[in-house]
Amino acid sequence: MTQRQAFTAFAVCVLSASSAAAQTTIGGLSGSHTDIPRWCGKPYQSGSPNYDPGGMLMPPAPSPTPMLYVQIEPRYSIYDSSETSGEFLVDASLSYIHGEPYRNATPSDDGGMLDFDIRIEDTDKLLVSDSVVVNSTDNQFSFDFGELQPRLTPYSIVLYGAPPSSYANQSYMATTELWYLPAKNNGSTVKVDNLNGGLSVANNATNYTFTPILPFGFYTSCSGYLNYSLANVTAYKDLGFNAINPVCAFADGNLDYLFDWMDATNLWYQYDMRGTFSNGLNVTQLTEQIPLVKDRSNLLSWYTADEPDGWQYALNQTRIAYDILKQQDPYHPTALVLNCDNYYFEEYSSGADYIMEDAYPIGINPTYSQPWNTTCNETYGDCGCDDCIGELQDVSNRLDDLFDYQLWLGQPEKPLWAVLQAFSGEGYWSRDPTPEETWAMMVLSFNHGAKGIMSWTYPTSESLGEAHGAMAKIATVSPVSTFLIGVPEATRITVPGHELLDVAYWVLNKQILVGVVNLDYVSQNSTIEILLPVSVTGMASQPWGSVGWVVTNGTLTAHELTGLATSFVVLDL
Ligand SMILES: *[C@@H]1O[C@H](CO)[C@@H](O)[C@H](O)[C@H]1NC(C)=O
Ligand SMILES: *[C@@H]1O[C@H](CO)[C@@H](O)[C@H](O)[C@H]1NC(C)=O
Ligand SMILES: *[C@@H]1O[C@H](CO)[C@@H](O)[C@H](O)[C@H]1NC(C)=O
Ligand SMILES: *[C@@H]1O[C@H](CO)[C@@H](O)[C@H](O)[C@H]1NC(C)=O
Ligand SMILES: *[C@@H]1O[C@H](CO)[C@@H](O)[C@H](O)[C@H]1NC(C)=O
Ligand SMILES: *[C@@H]1O[C@H](CO)[C@@H](O)[C@H](O)[C@H]1NC(C)=O
Ligand SMILES: *[C@@H]1O[C@H](CO)[C@@H](O)[C@H](O)[C@H]1NC(C)=O
Ligand SMILES: *[C@@H]1O[C@H](CO)[C@@H](O)[C@H](O)[C@H]1NC(C)=O
Ligand SMILES: *[C@@H]1O[C@H](CO)[C@@H](O)[C@H](O)[C@H]1NC(C)=O
Ligand SMILES: *[C@@H]1O[C@H](CO)[C@@H](O)[C@H](O)[C@H]1NC(C)=O
Ligand SMILES: *[C@@H]1O[C@H](CO)[C@@H](O)[C@H](O)[C@H]1NC(C)=O
Ligand SMILES: *[C@@H]1O[C@H](CO)[C@@H](O)[C@H](O)[C@H]1NC(C)=O
Repeated sequence: MTQRQAFTAFAVCVLSASSAAAQTTIGGLSGSHTDIPRWCGKPYQSGSPNYDPGGMLMPPAPSPTPMLYVQIEPRYSIYDSSETSGEFLVDASLSYIHGEPYRNATPSDDGGMLDFDIRIEDTDKLLVSDSVVVNSTDNQFSFDFGELQPRLTPYSIVLYGAPPSSYANQSYMATTELWYLPAKNNGSTVKVDNLNGGLSVANNATNYTFTPILPFGFYTSCSGYLNYSLANVTAYKDLGFNAINPVCAFADGNLDYLFDWMDATNLWYQYDMRGTFSNGLNVTQLTEQIPLVKDRSNLLSWYTADEPDGWQYALNQTRIAYDILKQQDPYHPTALVLNCDNYYFEEYSSGADYIMEDAYPIGINPTYSQPWNTTCNETYGDCGCDDCIGELQDVSNRLDDLFDYQLWLGQPEKPLWAVLQAFSGEGYWSRDPTPEETWAMMVLSFNHGAKGIMSWTYPTSESLGEAHGAMAKIATVSPVSTFLIGVPEATRITVPGHELLDVAYWVLNKQILVGVVNLDYVSQNSTIEILLPVSVTGMASQPWGSVGWVVTNGTLTAHELTGLATSFVVLDL
């Protein structure tokens, strides 16, 4: 997670004290530079030659005319036999980088539509027959499972579409997979909401009814905290967290008691297999652990690789693990964290159902690497935060980048989570974030689409533990969570004259949630007027922050925003 010595704290976890210098040729990337110690593909040792690290994604060249890009996805990553109906999401966007030629040759009275059928590929069984407006996205279509047999392998789904007028002579095809599993009555079942990006969980504590959650917690030391007592687990949960990533696994020893405590307190865990990935993926070890964990009542997700891009694990490694996990346990999603700004994103992220980022910008020197005495730039050096500028915006820039890469690749957007800095040291980070910087990074993450927070690392300082808990208690419950994971994505707005304000909003039913961060460390004392796209009738509540907002018709006004002020405010429409 942190790049170098982070693992030394966890004796139980049998994770060797790693140093980047030890990680010279792991992963077997082909090329002539594998002998040079690198991080994110960049040489970082003083005196190493400079060269192009490769693996960088660039925006695709746009075509001169828009193409029609038809995509289909199930609303949820999995369904089970406790459910009688499902949903598909159909996109028919006009894109300059993906899709098939689109000639809008239809007459105006029936133009601009696409008729389509959705079928099970093997049997040709029709599930949906309907139409969408061209250049619309996230169209929802429900269907009944009916006679469909629940099974442990996915159904291949195919969509055929065409404009209604036959003389348009154009057709479009898209495919996806539909998982319809036998419902379990033990352990947990966890699905990804492909529309809104949250997770939906079912276990004994929900009476096996799917319940949306916005996971919020910490990577947590096992030997330095979790293994002490059930009271420690309870104390952690009481701070306000609903999720955790214990940095230990069954491969490290018998940890039944520790996972039992998390099950007993209904604390959702990412099961961390970083040890199975270091020094090459040990597939035997991966396979051996799955039966020990898959039927536990609070397994949230499988966490495979920790910074596989930083360590330059083999490009196929995360996907190999992903496929094994899907085959042996299709009931849970798989996640991993990427550390690099732009290094083989497609390959590494192909092994994840949601993608975490861990840009740690506080207290770094973005241009000089103190541990290695080198400069840092786009192709060289390791300054602790890849391609960062050492400001809060590094977190939101990274989320925006990961969003864009998926857009460029033409993939459905996978949910993004933020791993926030709650530590310092190791030669890269001269200080901890303050609580105000922490809250700023949190609201910034949500404004830029994060659907979960899992910070590094617990125990942290008492003030940062409390700062994280305070936000967790607000962001994981209604009304805030209802917006954050009840709407596909936030819409950001700029505030003229206040370039250092980051503002986004979410509209749901008859209300709007507005998230505001003052990225300036000093007070904004000239009047701040946030022009909203909708007419608002009044303020319902301010679940987070204490800004003196005044609501007038379409405008949210404050006369002052203190340095690093953060606010979540709910307004009535
Ligand atoms: C990055 O730094 C290295 C080492 O100092 C140097 O050789 C290289 O030219 C620099 N690259 C850029 C793009 O400035
Ligand atoms: C398609 O929709 C996008 C996003 O709403 C919009 O920016 C674009 O102008 C639309 N394209 C056309 C050709 O209407
Ligand atoms: C329709 O499509 C077929 C097959 O691609 C092509 O041969 C034919 O010329 C097209 N007709 C028109 C009117 O575009
Ligand atoms: C949990 O349920 C599944 C399917 O119903 C079953 O195969 C499995 O053996 C059960 N596991 C335990 C630990 O009871
Ligand atoms: C689960 O069911 C039990 C018994 O019917 C009920 O007492 C409990 O409130 C339910 N819990 C939830 C979370 O719905
Ligand atoms: C938890 O573990 C720590 C050791 O890291 C210990 O000092 C503390 O008292 C324990 N108990 C609770 C309730 O946190
Ligand atoms: C759920 O099952 C776990 C064991 O897997 C148990 O520790 C916990 O108390 C149960 N929770 C509820 C709410 O029944
Ligand atoms: C992989 O894990 C298995 C089972 O723990 C172990 O026997 C084997 O030695 C490991 N292989 C490597 C290459 O470390
Ligand atoms: C994965 O990649 C490595 C290194 O490029 C290669 O040696 C290995 O054969 C690949 N494995 C599979 C299953 O493709
Ligand atoms: C750091 O590198 C510079 C030149 O690149 C050298 O002059 C200096 O002595 C080095 N400092 C340390 C502490 O190694
Ligand atoms: C805003 O605050 C700064 C620093 O406190 C002060 O110099 C400036 O006069 C204030 N501006 C207004 C409009 O109050
Ligand atoms: C609110 O704004 C709308 C549109 O800008 C305008 O039509 C309406 O008259 C305004 N209402 C009030 C009470 O100012």
